[in-house]
Formats: sequence, C-alpha cells, structure tokens
Amino acid sequence: MNIVKRPRRLRVNETIRSIVRETKINIEDLVYPLFVVEGENIKEEIKSMPDNYRFSIDKLLEEVKELQELGIKSILLFGIPEHKDECGSDAYDENGIIQKAVRAIKVNFPKMYVITDICMCEYTCHGHCGILTEDGYVDNDKTLEYLGKIAVSHALAGADMVAPSDMMDGRVGYMREALDKAGYVNVPIMAYSAKYSSAFYGPFRDAADSAPSFGDRKAYQMDPANINEAVREVELDIEEGADIVMVKPALPYLDVIRKVKDTFNIPIAAYNVSGEYSMIKMAVDNGLLNESAIMESLVSIKRAGADIIITYFAKYVAKEIRDK
Ligand code: PBG
Repeated sequence: MNIVKRPRRLRVNETIRSIVRETKINIEDLVYPLFVVEGENIKEEIKSMPDNYRFSIDKLLEEVKELQELGIKSILLFGIPEHKDECGSDAYDENGIIQKAVRAIKVNFPKMYVITDICMCEYTCHGHCGILTEDGYVDNDKTLEYLGKIAVSHALAGADMVAPSDMMDGRVGYMREALDKAGYVNVPIMAYSAKYSSAFYGPFRDAADSAPSFGDRKAYQMDPANINEAVREVELDIEEGADIVMVKPALPYLDVIRKVKDTFNIPIAAYNVSGEYSMIKMAVDNGLLNESAIMESLVSIKRAGADIIITYFAKYVAKEIRDK
C-alpha cells in the first residue's frame, strides 16, 4: 500500500502543528469587558459570571493595572449607576459612573484603550434601551438625541472609542454627527450592528442590573432566525459611518460572522457574551469540559471571521499566552 497523501504528516508534533496552524489568537484581538459601580473598595463577584466582578473606581484601577501588565490592550466599560430614571440621565451626566471611571483610567493608564458601551438599559428605571412612549414602545428618534449626548459625554471624559449597543435605527449616523460637531472626529464607532434578541445575555443583565422591567427587547434587537437582515443592518451602519461592525452573540451566530466577513471589507468584532462565557466557564469549573474548550471556542470565533473578540475570557487568555 502506498498512500502518497498523508495529512497526518503535518500533525506529528506540536512544532509542525503550530507552523501550519491557520488561526491564532493574539492578545491584540481581545477586548475585556468590565463593570463599574459607585462606591469605594468594592470588588464584588458576579455570581452568574464566576471570576468577573463589579468594581468601584479605586478597585477598577488596580484591575486595569493588572490587565496592562498582562498585555491586554483594550477594555469595554459598562456602568451601573446608583440612580435610574425614565430618561437614564446618569448615562450622560459628566459625573456619571462611566465618565468618572474613564477619566480615572485615562489619567492613570493613558495607553489602555478604553471603549464605552453606549446604551440606556442600565440607566433607565424600566430597563429598556431608550425613551418610552406612553404605550411602552421605545421611541426611536427621541432615543437618538440621548444616545448622541451619551456618546459626546464619553468622548469628553476621554473614551477612545464608543460602541452603541441599543439597536435604534439611524444611531450610528446620528452619533457620528454629534461626535464630529463636538470636535471628536477621531473617536471611532464600533457598532453593535447585528445584535440579536438573545437569551445568552442573561448573566450580563444580572451583572449590570439591566433586565427590562416589562416585556422584552424584540422590538429593537434582531430575531435569531435572520441572517439576510444582519447583512442589511451591517450595510446601514457602514453607510452611516461605523468604523467597526459587530455580531453579537458570537458562538450561536458563527454563520453570521462568516457572512458579514465575506460580504464587507471592514473590521469585524464578535461579542462572546455572558451566557457563552458562563456556560463554558461553569462546565470547566465542574469538570464537565476540559479547559481547552475555552481556547477552542475563541479560535472558532476568529476562524469564522472575527478580527476582534470581546470576551470575559480575555484575562484567562492573557495568562495562557504569558505562561507559554
Ligand atoms: C446593553 C448590552 C447588553 C449586552 C451588552 N450591552 C445587554 C442587553 O442587550 O440586554 C450583553 C453582553 C453580554 O451578555 O455579555 N444593551
């Protein structure tokens, strides 16, 4: 028997496997999400997301120092305000939780690339991502005015990039204009373009105290069954000036990531969301899965076409890379 073609030749040992490896995760690919709360000396573990915490600003700075030492280049900040109201006023207050956190980080760690999530759900008393009409519908155009104000206030505080996650129509164009008028022409927009109405956000809503008090987000986030619509959403955001487009969640939507990658020539981010994290993390912690499931799942997101991965595993990956 003479088998000439033997794919196993390139799998004989780790050296050759690493030479022909098609997809590699670099630390630069990863964005690490962090939750900030008011107060002092708080580092409170989020029960539904093991190893993730709500930090007060003083503790957040210690964490950012550690992240920087681990080589993490970029973080995505979520604020949990003390005060919530109908119009989410803490979200655009110059002394809001995010604005204070961004200023503190940029003063102490100017090189850390700080991205801020732009959405109202953590700040409104009803937990929806915008301003409600009398009958409980999220008023698209009214919400845009607030999103514009929020984005400008984050840029003023020193955010390097803003990331709208609200799914209102026209928000990227509106925000671009608002940022440009305020002089922030170099603050890029990473748009949560294809953001699905997903059960995988459950642990996050617990962490950020942002679950809607009535109804759901189906009137603004996308139906999980749709992929052509994802292409239309991405197309609109690019036309409106998005610098980076995002697909969210990641693992249940790898086909969407691939489709967007093949259709458009723009950097693509994928959000490996809280539910994906907790599912794998808890399975690993309980001995149901080998730890290598973490890297395998992140590699699959990159292989699908993501250039940037937002993941709660970023710190874990940084340690893996360091220890190698
Ligand atoms: C805010 C927002 C959410 C997430 C990111 N930004 C929650 C939601 O839309 O309900 C989810 C992130 C995660 O699950 O890790 N709208």
